[in-house]
Amino acid sequence: MNTKLIYSGIADVQTECLVAIVLDHNTDSSKEANPDHKVASNDKALADAVADVLASGDITGKSLETNLLHSPKGLKAKRLLIVGGGKAQKFSADDIRKIAGTAARFVKGKNLKSLAIAVPDATSVSAANAVRAIVEGVFVGDFDPNYYQSDRKDQRIDDLAIVAAANAEKKALDSALELGRVIGESQNFTRDLVNEPGNKMTPAILGQRAKKMSDEVGLKCEVFSTEKLHELKMGSFWSVSQGSAEPPALIVMTYEPKVVKNGGPVIGLVGKGVTFDTGGISIKPADGMEKMKYDMAGGAAMIGAMRAIALLKPNVKVIGIVCAAENMPSGTAQKPGDVQFAMNGKAIEIINTDAEGRLVLADGLCYARQLGCTHLVDAATLTGACVVALGYVNAGIFANNEDMYSRFSKAQQEAGEKFWRLPLDDEYREMIKSGIADIVNSGGRWGGAVTAAKFLQEFVDDKPWIHLDIAGVAWMEENKPWIAKGPSGIAVRSLVEFVKGW
Ligand code: BES
Ligand code: MN
Ligand code: ZN
Repeated sequence: MNTKLIYSGIADVQTECLVAIVLDHNTDSSKEANPDHKVASNDKALADAVADVLASGDITGKSLETNLLHSPKGLKAKRLLIVGGGKAQKFSADDIRKIAGTAARFVKGKNLKSLAIAVPDATSVSAANAVRAIVEGVFVGDFDPNYYQSDRKDQRIDDLAIVAAANAEKKALDSALELGRVIGESQNFTRDLVNEPGNKMTPAILGQRAKKMSDEVGLKCEVFSTEKLHELKMGSFWSVSQGSAEPPALIVMTYEPKVVKNGGPVIGLVGKGVTFDTGGISIKPADGMEKMKYDMAGGAAMIGAMRAIALLKPNVKVIGIVCAAENMPSGTAQKPGDVQFAMNGKAIEIINTDAEGRLVLADGLCYARQLGCTHLVDAATLTGACVVALGYVNAGIFANNEDMYSRFSKAQQEAGEKFWRLPLDDEYREMIKSGIADIVNSGGRWGGAVTAAKFLQEFVDDKPWIHLDIAGVAWMEENKPWIAKGPSGIAVRSLVEFVKGW
């Protein structure tokens, strides 16, 4: 997608479809039925063009409501798409991102290939933040998961123009556009990986995709397999792969800033890359098992984040580690009752072979520390229990360190992604005690998201750490106006924002 900024008056913008945002300025909640709509722009011609339709009462101004005008009065644009932005008082960059995604999906639905979006300059969101949100939103909206349909129409958007005020700070808007593009493309890169079915996304293929991307953006990337797992004594990670004909992949991506501060932080991003999770010998029911192709979404998020990091060049060293394996039942698969040794020597009694994500991450977290990471973040589609707790709205976040938590919390808000904190009290540790080994890999039914996190905590030592359980939000269960059903690319934006903050 070509993206550009234009600074002419809106009246002169020639486009298939111009997009404008309408906000409700009525602050009196008792007069709900009497909205006070204004277009979120200081451009006189745009205000004139929408005056009649606003006066007609056709527009409710509800968030993400769309209305289309053809040959709008006084504008050179062929169409004017008016998108509702909700209450002016609460309007944020996140609304802009969703509006831009909605506009992109609307335009694609009409088989158009280009659009122009007017920067909402009559709001409290800065023009630069608005530009970034528009670009991110359009990239998100442009993604379609119907990759393998033989009649797939190539409905991608070719051109996005963003119309800013003539007196805008051009430099700031240029870099906001570039930032939005890098992040939007990286989020879609992650979604592409997650979208692939298990037969087209094996651990080895995930490694190849990470390597190819790394070469393109100038990241160091090494991909190891079974031998290296043995060499590093990653018995926990290896045990998940042992039942599969597909060898595991240990993907290590390293970003070094130009100036490395001695003793400065090294951030480790560790992702679960289970390319298909049958459950293993503790096999899952057939119903819905096809969805377990997205069990590598945490790893894919780390790969997408590393892509963005390589392009944005923040001043901190970051190591991305993805532990990729396929969890299969077979004659060589691990069995309930087996005991495995993780890299740090801890003995794990396997209670349920379907609790495999924590097994691959255990060694990934140890390895990150061995490579010198001082701060750890992991992301995983780890537990169904997290979905039971938080549904499809919030991902779970766990933290053993308040500074890490507040940094991430700030980043997620900035990025417009939702995470809700869950506890790590010591009492939960009791639930993963083993009679034969140090710990069990399944703490049973109750508090399953927490006991999984407690398991991971055994492998982070005293390092500041946050754990993201994205099981419920890595896959959109239905189409939304701003994003298609399918892989969401959750965590990429927050992770990039988090790293940029150091
Ligand atoms: N990959 C699943 C978790 C999952 C569930 C992801 C739903 C996405 C949607 C994970 O490997 C798993 O199977 N977890 C088990 C753990 C249990 C056996 C302790 C679970 O949550 O049921
Ligand atoms: Mn599982
Ligand atoms: Zn899994």
